Amino acid sequence: MGADGMIGMFDSGLGGLSVLRDVRAALPAEDILYYADSAYCPYGERDDAEIIARSALITRALLERGAKVVIVACNTATSVALMTLRATTDVPIIGLVPAVKPAVANSPGGRVGVLATPRTVEGRMLADLIAAHRGDARVVTVPAPGLADLVESGHVSGPLVDGLLHPLLAPLHAAQIDTLVLGCTHYPFLRRALTAHLGPEVHITDSGEAIARRASSVLAEMGAGRQPGTDIGSTHLLTSGDQDHVGTVAARLLGRSLPVERLTL
Ligand code: DGL
Repeated sequence: MGADGMIGMFDSGLGGLSVLRDVRAALPAEDILYYADSAYCPYGERDDAEIIARSALITRALLERGAKVVIVACNTATSVALMTLRATTDVPIIGLVPAVKPAVANSPGGRVGVLATPRTVEGRMLADLIAAHRGDARVVTVPAPGLADLVESGHVSGPLVDGLLHPLLAPLHAAQIDTLVLGCTHYPFLRRALTAHLGPEVHITDSGEAIARRASSVLAEMGAGRQPGTDIGSTHLLTSGDQDHVGTVAARLLGRSLPVERLTL
């Protein structure tokens, strides 16, 4: 394929733009095509068969448009659909898991919190990750119903966010965590609000930079990476949802406008 293709990415909605931000910073010359499955968001309320079917359709659409690698920028879709997606194509599919391992390794006092959607908190993937990497650390998981929806509608600060965070974070205060893992790709957009609630001494970590490094090394191994030069790669959004709404919220989250096209799958 060479360096010509683009990086395909998708999420249930706009949360994966937090990962896109890190991928863009690490790989400035690459073209990125991002599918926001906004008409089906949140995936956490759908059954496995539907999440697998949506993920497969989106991956196929990204491959048809020339994706040389696909990043599943969603914890839920990764845990449910990654293996199926990998079985359908030779193009590398990069999945995303909560950053429990580095959080435990870097936690000064061994007190780690994980904030994630109810679906991710209840799922096998997170339980297995914690069991594999907990060591002597105490890891507290907190489900955050409604939090991704707030980000999806463009709220990253203000009374609605504070009203939801205040009771949600109580168990993390009680556990005196020193490190917080963001187990949903929507949550990095709430970093400032989370720091205001938890205090600056709590280190907050997500998976975006690790995924960007992984994408970079996968492209290098394939010989398909673009050398950074004077050309900045393009960034385009596709969505199953309302194009204008997605464009408005994406611009609010990223601080810049991006072209958005409606693509019903
Ligand atoms: N951004 C998705 C994730 O990381 C949100 C989950 C959902 O749509 O339920 O899991």
